Amino acid sequence: MTDAIQIRYTDLAESSCCLSCGTAAHLCEPTSGQVCVDLGCGRGTDVLRLAEKVGPTGHAYGIDLTEAMLAKARTTARKLGVTNATFLRADLEAIPLPDASVDWITSNCVLNHVSDKGRAWREIARLLKVGGQFIISDIYAVDAISAEDRADPQAVAECWAGAVLRSEYLAFVAAAGLQDVVITEESAPYRKGRANVASFTLSGRKPAVRKCCG
Ligand SMILES: C[S@@+](CC[C@H](N)C(=O)[O-])C[C@H]1O[C@@H](n2cnc3c(N)ncnc32)[C@H](O)[C@@H]1O
Repeated sequence: MTDAIQIRYTDLAESSCCLSCGTAAHLCEPTSGQVCVDLGCGRGTDVLRLAEKVGPTGHAYGIDLTEAMLAKARTTARKLGVTNATFLRADLEAIPLPDASVDWITSNCVLNHVSDKGRAWREIARLLKVGGQFIISDIYAVDAISAEDRADPQAVAECWAGAVLRSEYLAFVAAAGLQDVVITEESAPYRKGRANVASFTLSGRKPAVRKCCG
């Protein structure tokens, strides 16, 4: 799956106007000095926006699988003189950042591509500090995607065949132990590829660990 994604996004790194399905980073309100991570950052626009919000004492990371996207992001950061943003090449199933090191996680139209979504959500929970928040826009399937389409790497790379049902999506979030989940935006169903999908933006946080037993 990941090869098809990289081929698709290497082509789009220079050419396409928009790559997203919603809004996430502009809803994120970090304070000065905080650490933010944008998952599947593409050309890095949201990372640079977050870097500006957290200021010189904070840091923004962009994670993406596609080197061409990261190269574009690094060039833009250099041109703009942004020094508090770092772009890392990684799969969202194994993010090279320490446990409990992040205040805010954002992502726009990416998790639908990830093969093991449970693992990606556990990575989100691992990275967040207690009380840390996520705001994620993504696509979900309105009707279940056929097994044939789910196994088609090109269809997954086109942002629809990897989508899961809304209920499955929310189950991944809950299973990762994240709480206070609120859906802040949600589209009407629309057709993408051979599927009926919808887009939504959800926010939530990592809860404090409860002390056990009196
Ligand atoms: C639809 S684009 C969105 C880019 C960006 N978030 C935006 O809104 O412009 C999807 C991005 O996710 C990246 N991606 C897809 N699967 C990934 C994975 N498993 N791990 C990391 N990045 C991934 C792609 O390389 C691509 O840059």
